[in-house]
Amino acid sequence: MAILLTGGAGFIGSHTAVCLMQAGYDVVLADNFSNSSPKVVGRIAEITGKTPVCVEADVCDKEAVRNIFRAHDISAVVHFAGLKAVGESVQKPLEYYRNNLDSALTVLEVMREFGCRQFVFSSSATVYGDQPAPLNESAPTGGCSNPYGWTKFMIEKILIDAARADETLSVVLLRYFNPIGAHESGRIGEDPQGIPNNLMPYITQVASGRREKLTVFGNDYPTPDGTGVRDYIHVCDLAEGHRCALEYAAAHTGCEVFNLGTGHGYSVLDMVHTFTRVNGVDVPYVIGPRRAGDLATVYAACDKAKEVLGWQAQRDLEAMCRDSWNWQKKNPMGYDA
Ligand code: UFG
Repeated sequence: MAILLTGGAGFIGSHTAVCLMQAGYDVVLADNFSNSSPKVVGRIAEITGKTPVCVEADVCDKEAVRNIFRAHDISAVVHFAGLKAVGESVQKPLEYYRNNLDSALTVLEVMREFGCRQFVFSSSATVYGDQPAPLNESAPTGGCSNPYGWTKFMIEKILIDAARADETLSVVLLRYFNPIGAHESGRIGEDPQGIPNNLMPYITQVASGRREKLTVFGNDYPTPDGTGVRDYIHVCDLAEGHRCALEYAAAHTGCEVFNLGTGHGYSVLDMVHTFTRVNGVDVPYVIGPRRAGDLATVYAACDKAKEVLGWQAQRDLEAMCRDSWNWQKKNPMGYDA
């Protein structure tokens, strides 16, 4: 029996692969490498001592997904595959809706054909829209500010309806907050293409001299220092959350949703100052205008994951900053250096 990780060569997929393999699971990675590198597979092997099965496939291609199920005994799917750039989704909404909805539906239909009944989905805190923090799982969803967020919302709805219609199905929706950090070995990490959209990869590229300075998007938010507050979570803690979700899915049917965050909010300037202090490197920055669609404060209530899954983030902000920098230093140009 193996766990299929769609988008398994990506940032969160690769860390989850390591976590699952170290817990004794067999994994099959499926990735079209549209935003990831095949070199990840060798790096996972270095860390775990075992080479994961990796299939180059677009999971919108039903026959390609069927071939994976024919070749491997898949007991559960963790569906990471999808387009994820918020700004790009505003420019290319049709591509985002087509790719993200199609891949989820295709995988679900093939799972049904092959009698695979456990599905863990990479959702996002973005489905909460603009609501006061801390956000808990019973807060209403919707009000997303971009097509990317709406794809997560729509796939959640599809999964809720699918689990309601079929009592043998087991679905876990995981709403990620802001994943950063990297495996402590520095062998796998986040490798954004082009100019990073997200804060931490931008900080590490400024620290390494690859970019001149960080622009802080607004310092007039109603937060303690005026900059945006987010719930940053170490990617290895997030990976553990998937392991717990798979255990839960194996033991229950129906659809459950869990926040994966730390429950702590840190501002952009907290991030810059902690990164500088922990790593002893400067991060020059300027204050710029707000970025369209950004919220002031987003952080999770994490009690449900703790109570039901027995999961809680273990790594603090210093570890996140240290491990992000360790990965950047060891891989200045990402995987393709
Ligand atoms: N920020 C800057 N400068 C930058 C980049 C970011 O000041 O160059 C600020 C943002 O304004 C925000 C914070 O840093 O206050 C975090 O921004 P990110 O882009 O890293 O993350 P977001 O919270 O905007 O978005 C993330 C994911 C989305 C997901 C969302 C859910 O990237 O996929 O969390 O809340 F939808």
